[in-house]
Amino acid sequence: MLRRPRRNRRSAAIRGLAQEIHLTPQHLVQPLFLVEGSGLREAIPSLPGTFRLSVDEALKEVKACMALGLQSFILFPKIPDNKKDKRGTFSYDDDNFYLSAAAEIKAAFPEACLISDVALDPYSSDGHDGIVHDGKILNDETLHVLQKMGLAQAKAGFDILGPSDMMDGRVEALRVALDEEGFSDTGIMSYTAKYASAFYGPFRDALDSAPVEGEDIPADKKTYQMNPANRREALIEGELDMLEGADFLMVKPALHYMDVILTMKQHFEVPIAAYHVSGECAMLMAACQNGWLDYEQAMPETLLSLHRAGADVIITYFAKDFAERCG
Ligand code: PBG
Repeated sequence: MLRRPRRNRRSAAIRGLAQEIHLTPQHLVQPLFLVEGSGLREAIPSLPGTFRLSVDEALKEVKACMALGLQSFILFPKIPDNKKDKRGTFSYDDDNFYLSAAAEIKAAFPEACLISDVALDPYSSDGHDGIVHDGKILNDETLHVLQKMGLAQAKAGFDILGPSDMMDGRVEALRVALDEEGFSDTGIMSYTAKYASAFYGPFRDALDSAPVEGEDIPADKKTYQMNPANRREALIEGELDMLEGADFLMVKPALHYMDVILTMKQHFEVPIAAYHVSGECAMLMAACQNGWLDYEQAMPETLLSLHRAGADVIITYFAKDFAERCG
């Protein structure tokens, strides 16, 4: 045998020489769920290890992450039912705690990168990402709300807007609105290929944001989120987002869509982000809590494999845990 691949696996030192990729905390984004109030750190039963935080607790969390070299955060609000309406107007209200929390975090940690969530669902009494009317999601009317929401977020100090709603034309609508108001430095990380997935369950528990079954509209998001059977369609979304000015393209979920991540990486020159979603994290946690998998090995392997598949950026509930193990 002239060629023996095992020679390069013989010792830790040789394996180190031969290692193709490395994952460091600079590639990771930590999601934070925010609630109004103070002193709050509420557990989410379907997502062990993740909490809903009031801003004072969130500041402590950001500080701890920054000390570990984890500098990017994606923020989501849990909105009380009495602030929800059909058009998500609270999303750009002056009294929205999500906006003031972002401003406070940015003031305390100017070097942190804060990514927002641009979509109606946390604010919508219908639980949908767009305005519901006569059994339909109104695409173009929704864009106006997204523009107001996005501008309010840019003013609050978010570095990057994260449109997760899957309406057509949202990236351009946001880009134009931002540029007109002087926010040409505010970036856009588009949820380019976001699938109508079963793996968002724990996230919807955390935010109480599940779509509501209506008389004339089902409790799913299949008319705007993508069909899990489709890969090539992600390229159409990617081309549009490139033309419309997106700075990052995202694939979501991540583990079950690694082929899509690789395809996007091969086709587009901007950084590719993967959202390792709540249900994907919960699956691993459940197996580890049962003693069926070893968290210390399975968690880093999961994140490394996403990076290998082509994800430049990984949004994951394990970001802090990973960073803690890098030191
Ligand atoms: C909402 C949004 C969702 C997630 C991120 N933004 C849920 C949904 O589309 O219903 C899911 C993230 C996760 O599951 O971790 N626009």
